[in-house]
Amino acid sequence: MMNKIVMATNNANKLREVREILSPLGIDVISQAEAGISCDPEENGSSFSENSEIKAEAVYNAYAEKKHENIAVIADDSGLCVDALDGRPGVYSARYAPKGQECARLLDEMNDIPDERRTARFICDITYINGYGMDFHFEGICEGIISREKLGENGFGYDPVFMYGGRTLAEMTAEEKNNISHRAKALGSLYKFLKERQGE
Ligand code: IMP
Repeated sequence: MMNKIVMATNNANKLREVREILSPLGIDVISQAEAGISCDPEENGSSFSENSEIKAEAVYNAYAEKKHENIAVIADDSGLCVDALDGRPGVYSARYAPKGQECARLLDEMNDIPDERRTARFICDITYINGYGMDFHFEGICEGIISREKLGENGFGYDPVFMYGGRTLAEMTAEEKNNISHRAKALGSLYKFLKERQGE
């Protein structure tokens, strides 16, 4: 197994989270910028797994072309699926409303939806491509309920309207969210997978 992995992201928070989780395995996670790669492929897949694969493959191929060698790559894609909206915003979560207005728009769109039909889930898919170009997927799901109002100041995106165990994710500390979040669960599965292959 390679002990260096490129993360296909320019998001410093995601990079830090992945670094923290994989560092006990002696794996060095570097950003695509640190690897000398700049690419921003169109995320035009119809599922989270298609989109994370598009991002991972773009970086894997760009690296191989530039450096004439292969390197392992991680990419993730995530979003919110609301049952009463037939799974929307789903893969369009980042584009559903202007940044900072996604919660207000969601509450507005769900104004007439009664409490018992406000179920939703965050989904995260991670693609890992190993040094031989083989793809592996790891999914994490966090089930919850869309609240009636924005609550809490922490987190980002839809956290202030996503209730888990009686509180929104924005009312939790980062550590509390990391115990239950879709991204943490997917990363936990990736960690287990890589740990089992150490020494191969
Ligand atoms: P991406 O995975 O960076 O493409 O992000 C997809 C979008 O889903 C984000 O811009 C957020 O709007 C939303 N999202 C994904 N994960 C979370 C989360 O943990 N909390 C709140 N919103 C999230």
